[in-house]
This record gives sequence, structure tokens and C-alpha cells, in this order.
Amino acid sequence: MSATQTTQIEIIKATTTKINEVDFNNLSFGSVFTDHLFECDFKNGEWQQPVIKPYAPFLIDPSTRVFHYGQAIFEGMKAYKNEADEIWLFRPDENYNRFNKSAVRMAMPEVPEDIFMNGLQQLLHLDEAWIKKGKGNAMYIRPFMIANGTGVIANPSDDYKFMIILSPVTSYYAGDVKVLIAEHYSRAANGGIGAAKAAGNYGAQFYPTTLANQQGFQQVIWTDDATHTKLEEAGTMNVFFRINNTLLTAPVSERILDGVTRKTLIELAKSEGINVEVRSVLVDELVAAAKDGSLQEIFGAGTAAVVSPISGFSYKDEYFELPKSETTVASQLKEKLTNIQNKLEEDTFGWTVKI
Ligand code: COI
Repeated sequence: MSATQTTQIEIIKATTTKINEVDFNNLSFGSVFTDHLFECDFKNGEWQQPVIKPYAPFLIDPSTRVFHYGQAIFEGMKAYKNEADEIWLFRPDENYNRFNKSAVRMAMPEVPEDIFMNGLQQLLHLDEAWIKKGKGNAMYIRPFMIANGTGVIANPSDDYKFMIILSPVTSYYAGDVKVLIAEHYSRAANGGIGAAKAAGNYGAQFYPTTLANQQGFQQVIWTDDATHTKLEEAGTMNVFFRINNTLLTAPVSERILDGVTRKTLIELAKSEGINVEVRSVLVDELVAAAKDGSLQEIFGAGTAAVVSPISGFSYKDEYFELPKSETTVASQLKEKLTNIQNKLEEDTFGWTVKI
């Protein structure tokens, strides 16, 4: 992270704090927000004065472009506090770079590094009391940008609003996750926006996921749009399979998000001596491995849940239960990664950044 401060941020402090109303032991993911937010508008072709101000709703014209054409992108990051009360970020450059790739794909302006990084750092320091120590605790950081220009003409907006909001989170346990392998619906297509963290990618998943929920499955494993034969992502996460002691995950593509947790787990697994193959994984291969007993694990990987083990999958109305084991690669990698993120183990990779 190499942001030098060039833009002065105006700071308007909240006169009261909501922190005493929050039960930090019972947080539901992404539902509680800290006292302040960061905001910077893009108008007349340039970024305006950034401001940190009290977290509050704001008025917005009904014709604002984001409502009509979904020109909106976001990132998900986390900050951690160690025993020495230092605040650490995990691979923030990866999120910053991906944010701007998403911006370009959605015809939005790129956010300058000093606005993104200094806004983030100053906001985290101001709401520092909200970042709790201890493994499992983190501050989920949500940078996002919306098309803020008015008028329903179907063109890119001239005006944009970039904001960062913070939500304290605890370790995310999704329970027993059974998944349905998509035979018809797709999350992304070649030439589309699957590789961008665009809001619409997530909204478009809601309907097929709701159908899966009605059949008793928590998530959908997305397959490629053209043939539905390749396994691509799981819910809002990248997906890993362990077959015959080899960890498999699809290569990133126009359809697959370049997940920070995904690339981290690949590096961590290799450093742990686990055999990793980054290649297309076929539905037929998964079904055959489930049948012959060589399928050991399936898990999702993302910032929110870190690693989310999958207990079984259904394909063409046939359900396959995964073997249960006390020692899984999912838990081994999650333990290693969360130790590094929480500064409980040395970070030999240079991923953690103190702010
Ligand atoms: C992530 O885990 O990386 C996400 O983007 C999850 C978010 C959609 C809640």
C-alpha cells in the first residue's frame, strides 16, 4: 500500500456514539455500522473534497442513475486489531486494484489511490474503538461507488459517489451448507461483468438462490453459461474441491472473480505442501469422484466467510453427501489464514499492512 496523502480530508465528528448500544457478541453479518462514513463525490470530471462525517441516511433524487441502470460497484475488505492495539489490513492493494478494474468495466471513473487508501485509514482510526481484538473479530470494510447523476437516459452518469462504510463482524459460521449445482441459471457469461464486483452480479443471484433455498439448499454452485459443465463459483464465493488429495479451483476468467481469499489460499496451500491445480473442474468429474469416494471436500472462499465448508451437493436430482472428517484442508487453511490476519502467526508473505 503506497498511498501518500495528497488530498486533505474534511472531518466532521459525530457528537454522540452508538457503540454502547451494540452487542458485539451477537452481531449479524453486515447489519451494524460504525459512527462515521467516508464520502467523496465525482462531479464536473473531477473528484471533489473528501469528507468523513457521521453515518446517516442521505437524500437522493428518484431519477438517480444507479436506481435505473444499476451502475454500482463495491469491495469487501477486513481490518483486524492485534493484542498491541495495532490496526492491520490484509492485502488492501488487491482490493483497491480490483475496485478500479470494476469501475472501468462499469464505465465509472477510477478512484485515486490516495482518496481510497487515506479515506479508509482515517475512517478506521476515527472509529478504532469499534474494532475488537481477538480471533474471529474483524471490521468488515465496504467501499462502494454509485452513479449519482440524475435523469433516466440510458447513458453512463456524469456524477458518482464513492463511499466507505464500516461494519464490525464476528467469525461467520454459515452452518450446514448444502449446494445445488446450477443446470440452467448462470452467474456470469463471457463478455459480461462476472469478473467485476458489480452490484448486479449479486442481485442476479438472488432469484436462482431463492429457488435453491426452497428445495432445501443454502447456495448454488454456478456453472459456465455455455455448457453448464464447468464448476465456477459457489454462492458469492470462489470454490475449491479436494479430490484424491489435490486441491482444485477454476482459473479466473471473464466469468470468475479474481478473489483475494482464493489467491491467498492457493499460495497458502502450496506453502503447506498441498498439491494444488488451477484448472477447470467438470461437473462429471465431481460426480464421478463423489461416486468412487475420491471426493474429500468442497469449500467456498471469500472475504466475508473466509472458508465455508460444503456438506453435500445435488446434481440432476441426485444428492451426494461429502465425507465428514475432523481434519480438513478447509479448516487447516482457515486456521493458518486467520492466524496471519489476526497477527497471531508470522506473516512471511508480506500480506498484512499496519495502518
Ligand atoms: C465476499 O465474501 O467476498 C463477498 O463479497 C461477500 C459479500 C457479497 C457479502
